[in-house]
Amino acid sequence: MKTYYITTPIYYLNGDPHIGHTYTTVAADTMARYKKARGYDVKFLTGSDEHGQKVERAAAEAGVSPQKFVDDLAATFKGIWKLMNCEYDFYQRTTNPAHRESIKRLFKKLFDQGDIYKGSYEGLYCTPCETFFTARDLNDGNCPDCNRRVETISEECYFFKMSKYQDALIKHYEENPEFLMPLSRRNEMLNNFIKPGLEDLCVSRTSFKWGIPVDFDPGHVIYVWIDALPNYVTALGFLSDDDSLYKRYWPADLHLMAKEIVRFHSIIWPCVLLALGEPLPKQVFGHGWLQYNGQKMGKSLGNAICPKTLVDEYGVDAMRYFLLREFTFGPDGNFTPAALITRYNADLANDLGNLLSRTVGMVDKYFGGTLPSSKEENSDPNRELIEMATSMLEKVEARMEKLAFSEALNEIWNLVRRANKYIDETAPWVLAKDESKAPELANVLYNLAETLRILAIAITPVMPNTPTIIREQLNITDPALYKWESAKKFGLLPRAVTVTKGSAAFPRIEKKP
Ligand code: MSP
Repeated sequence: MKTYYITTPIYYLNGDPHIGHTYTTVAADTMARYKKARGYDVKFLTGSDEHGQKVERAAAEAGVSPQKFVDDLAATFKGIWKLMNCEYDFYQRTTNPAHRESIKRLFKKLFDQGDIYKGSYEGLYCTPCETFFTARDLNDGNCPDCNRRVETISEECYFFKMSKYQDALIKHYEENPEFLMPLSRRNEMLNNFIKPGLEDLCVSRTSFKWGIPVDFDPGHVIYVWIDALPNYVTALGFLSDDDSLYKRYWPADLHLMAKEIVRFHSIIWPCVLLALGEPLPKQVFGHGWLQYNGQKMGKSLGNAICPKTLVDEYGVDAMRYFLLREFTFGPDGNFTPAALITRYNADLANDLGNLLSRTVGMVDKYFGGTLPSSKEENSDPNRELIEMATSMLEKVEARMEKLAFSEALNEIWNLVRRANKYIDETAPWVLAKDESKAPELANVLYNLAETLRILAIAITPVMPNTPTIIREQLNITDPALYKWESAKKFGLLPRAVTVTKGSAAFPRIEKKP
């Protein structure tokens, strides 16, 4: 069985999570479900980033121990993933003893082979971002990422010989054109950061304690990126006594994240792997930010939108659909409540919700809930609907493979809209007036039910709950009819469809944003 290993960043949080935090994980969960449906042996990792000065300070401010602070952090994130219906296989925490042990070994290995050496560092450091910048990087003296003040820091530290791997990294980029996507980010990293020259990287700190100590030099704590980035391999048992998962699932197929941490994942992390002599992830993908009023959503900007409020109001499937349908995956996207309500009413309440309720309602009204057997008809528009239904999934696959979620959903909704148009074209209410047209009417309603069966399969990765509603109302219970590949065939549903009327899958939202 082919494996598929996908990761999100491991998260850090000081405050409440917002809808922007959920974006990467919902996308990763969707990919994981999609690959599972296609028969892959999938592993999906998320987690929390729990060491560093930021945590130490935030814990002190909150008046709790760093351990209590990060335990709460992990619990908050696990709650958010449950709310968003994200089903990970690994929840990696950097305070996990097994992770700490592997990181100590990794650091020692790089030191022993001469890729880590001791020196001293003076630099401009942004504590919230845990990143050093050169004066040239700064934005009016402030951090180019979060725009807060940077501090001048001077300390003895261990360096990682990143410069040594520059050529190998360039070669890897050139031989693997899709290593970093989208292409705009690849070009930016390659031309603005890698080719101008990589500098050795400071990978330890003496200014705080909350981290993984350097075993052979106890005053030093391992710097966050050497601690956090390898979480993707320590979760698989890399450098532990049992690395069978590592052997099976590494290299990762996809590291997914927002653009601000692409630099670390596409430069530092590959160089560490090159130094270790391990394979590089097959792809790093940096999507844009979810913005609100044109700025990255976040606590410090006061424009954070709470996922729970939205899920309570619209439902988790609608939220997942909205995130992946409304914004092109790659560039930044601007969140507005008005867009959410418009999208919900148009695509979910009107298009999909109505298709289901009309179909079920008509089977109930015209045939007392069970369709008589009928013959397949090959005339237009039957043929057109059937052709579109059987060819939809392949188009969806082509989009999904490129992480083009919005386009994949649009392919699915082309079929939803076509099916609604089919109702208007075949006018079942006219057929129902003429008893001799009963077989024709039954055939129309069968085609609609079978289209809904196919749609339920296609939407599952994005909307894991809605297929159950569709299947309950159409009484589809045979698991063979849920299978991904079965959505490429029309006519598998037994013709005597029996319906159970249910409540609206997506009740219309009447209020103004
Ligand atoms: N801890 C580091 C990552 C280490 S990975 C080895 C980190 N954590 S973070 O919690 O600050 O951010 C993690 C991720 O949250 C971002 O890369 C992104 O995936 C997601 N997002 C946070 N805010 C976001 C938006 N407003 N929009 C889209 N994604 C957002 O960085």
